[in-house]
Amino acid sequence: MKWMKLFAAAGVLAIGGAACNNDTKEAETTQASAGITKKAWGEANGQPVDLYTLRNANGTVVTITNYGGIVTSFLTKDKNDSIASIVVGFDSIGPYLQSPPYFGALIGRYGNRIGAGKFSIGDKNYTLATNNGVNHLHGGVVGFDKVIWTAAPITDSIPVLQLSYLSKDGEEGYPGNLQVTVTYSLTDEDGLKIQYEATTDQPTPVNLTNHSYFNLTGDTKQTILEHQLQLNADAYTPVDKGLIPTGEIRAVAGTLFDFRNPTAIGSRIDSVEGGYDHNYVINNVTGSLQKVATLSESTSGRFLEVWTTEPGIQFYSGNFLDGKFINHSGTPVQLRTALCLETQHFPDSPNKKEFPSTILEPGKKYRTETIYKTGFIK
Ligand code: BGC
Repeated sequence: MKWMKLFAAAGVLAIGGAACNNDTKEAETTQASAGITKKAWGEANGQPVDLYTLRNANGTVVTITNYGGIVTSFLTKDKNDSIASIVVGFDSIGPYLQSPPYFGALIGRYGNRIGAGKFSIGDKNYTLATNNGVNHLHGGVVGFDKVIWTAAPITDSIPVLQLSYLSKDGEEGYPGNLQVTVTYSLTDEDGLKIQYEATTDQPTPVNLTNHSYFNLTGDTKQTILEHQLQLNADAYTPVDKGLIPTGEIRAVAGTLFDFRNPTAIGSRIDSVEGGYDHNYVINNVTGSLQKVATLSESTSGRFLEVWTTEPGIQFYSGNFLDGKFINHSGTPVQLRTALCLETQHFPDSPNKKEFPSTILEPGKKYRTETIYKTGFIK
């Protein structure tokens, strides 16, 4: 009922709204009610795509396109009540078609790397598309970040967008038809909740995540080196030169990887070859939602908590960003101006029997949940 009222108040679904070349500005300045709206957002893969705007009563706004399930902006207030997007993104579809490094996108079938793009299940060997040197990264050449998802706003007390996609048997080399549903909700507590579900008709690896790049200042002129990060992880998975885990689970104590207490990202990054791009092994995983990471930034007062059911989190300090893409804020997204906290199972699990399994069996349901909860301290 409440939902119906929200729709009526906002005059939605406002399909094909007024042309605007700056959606973050529009979302910021429009005196709109809580709810969800939809507008045409150009074309991708020869098909029309849409942009959905999820807004809550606090004035927090998330925009998501059904191309790649990409979170294009996440507008939150800072301690001075000024609003900016804490994620990197673009105000139009165009740059998303030029393969930015997964800005805001849904990642699948397998987030992160599978060594040499090969794995076996039982006595069957599989070869995946390789797109990162000899390795398979983030689902391959055309991962879930580059496909068009079927979108449905859902009737609920908060704005909800459900995205579905059928990944066909053999896509990028994976076995089985995988039916995937990702549900984005904007909570009353300013959290972007992401629920991932999948079923299959053949055993297949599945490891779904979201690849948002955060900069809590809302401005990629600033680096993320002064952001403080805390991770509930006593261990991480060291990697080889190709960023494939060696299989070791190594304690962070006494290493450059220790973020058990809030630590400025820049304090030790220069001593880490290439910067941080590592999977952390979350403590005391039970499968229930738990807070695993907190990021904070003092000039804006903003913080971000990451809650998840997953056993791992990839802390990627934007090591390959090179200024090629221009963010909402109008500035190039340069090295170390944004970071990712990707909740996941461990990279290369299909080849590491000692890691928690990522194989989904027919008749079973893949189900994980992550919340990016935002706020600020005055
Ligand atoms: C990976 C990086 C990779 C990046 C691509 C991250 O999830 O950990 O190694 O370069 O995605 O944007």
